[in-house]
Amino acid sequence: MHASTPVPMSSVRGGPLKGRVRAPGDKSISHRALILAGLTVGRTRITGLLEGEDVLNTGKALRALGARVERTGEGMWQVHGVGVSGFAAPPAPLDFGNSGTGCRLMLGAVAGCPITATFDGDASLRKRPMQRVLDPLIRMGARPGAVAEGGRLPLTLEGARDPIPIVYEPPAASAQLKSAVLLAGLGAPGETTVLEKEATRDHTERMLRHFGAEVAVEVMGDGRRITLKGQPELAPADVAVPADPSSAAFPLVAALIVPGSDLVIEGVMTNPLRAGLFQTLAEMGASIETLAASSDGGEEVADLRVRFSALRGVEVPAPRAPTMIDEYPILAVAAAFAEGTTIMRGLKELRVKESDRLAATAAMLRVNGVEAEIDGDDLVVHGRGRPPRGGGTVTTHMDHRMAMSALVMGLASEHAVTADDTGFIATSFPTFAPMMRGLGANFSG
Ligand code: S3P
Repeated sequence: MHASTPVPMSSVRGGPLKGRVRAPGDKSISHRALILAGLTVGRTRITGLLEGEDVLNTGKALRALGARVERTGEGMWQVHGVGVSGFAAPPAPLDFGNSGTGCRLMLGAVAGCPITATFDGDASLRKRPMQRVLDPLIRMGARPGAVAEGGRLPLTLEGARDPIPIVYEPPAASAQLKSAVLLAGLGAPGETTVLEKEATRDHTERMLRHFGAEVAVEVMGDGRRITLKGQPELAPADVAVPADPSSAAFPLVAALIVPGSDLVIEGVMTNPLRAGLFQTLAEMGASIETLAASSDGGEEVADLRVRFSALRGVEVPAPRAPTMIDEYPILAVAAAFAEGTTIMRGLKELRVKESDRLAATAAMLRVNGVEAEIDGDDLVVHGRGRPPRGGGTVTTHMDHRMAMSALVMGLASEHAVTADDTGFIATSFPTFAPMMRGLGANFSG
């Protein structure tokens, strides 16, 4: 676990960023690969697993629930699953650290098993809403025991002995909510249905199929109707985890704002439900070229060549938000360098991430001399087509993406930018600082 002593770091303007890199394994897919492999009968081999703290915590939880989870090499893991509904009661509380995804997906998986488990996390995760996940799981027959005030961690959940299949309409566009219900639905007889008003990342659906479950997906306007046939026998199936577009976003935006930069980022997952940032940056005038496209682990991937670009402000429509929900802090950095105003609409969900990212992003920009305001659920950034003043210290609120965004901003601002704590970068991108330095970035601290 990340030590509680803050690890400040600064970045400063320097020469162009050049080279070829590969971002670490996708965080969403890494969590799902471990959990679903744990619900198969037999051995699954996973390659390219993200070895960040969030995913390692999911691995530990899985072990405590009775699966055999072994590391066999760099990014190479083996899981011997216990079968659908086969989890055993863990001997101690499960600690998910900083990870909402690990915790919420596992709440769903446990809800479909006849066991009781206690869920906990760090100070950031303890502030995040869990009641929205508990609500459908209670309908499915799970019973919460002690739950901290406001529906938060720590909480104890008694899984359903006979899970009930439901038809569920998530109150927010959230892949975590959808996935929790589908994972609980594995233990239920009959069909569990999720009706999404807006489509969110579909890695759970894709991976359920990969492991042999029957999942029907019907597109309905902007949304989807997802139906899972319960009580399948999940069979082991190897998984190659593609590179995380949400992590690739940091070197990518760095190359766009540092003059003279020219980078290739290899093997980036381009699943359309994760690709909103690429579309938005292209609209802003970014030079992002697809060099080679293929598929990896049931997902589309591509090598991307990115060059320094003159960016212009755009309006990002609210319906695009689910396809780039984790990318707004780094998009805001790009917007700060663009000519003109960028309006990012419909960012309500940003308030309940690892930090209140709407407030934290506006504060990051302002402390570095960029004009930005929050208007309802929208973020408005006034770029001036030249480097911002910089010189500020950004409060990162235990949030990895705030820390990486601040460090990228400093690479092209007039004065150094400091992130007050970079320790949490290890939750999703442990190799961030060495990788960026390898491309020519000036990080100190
Ligand atoms: C994730 C879903 C998103 C995202 C998170 C990963 C997932 O959260 O912000 O980083 O893997 O399902 P929400 O479901 O809360 O929107």
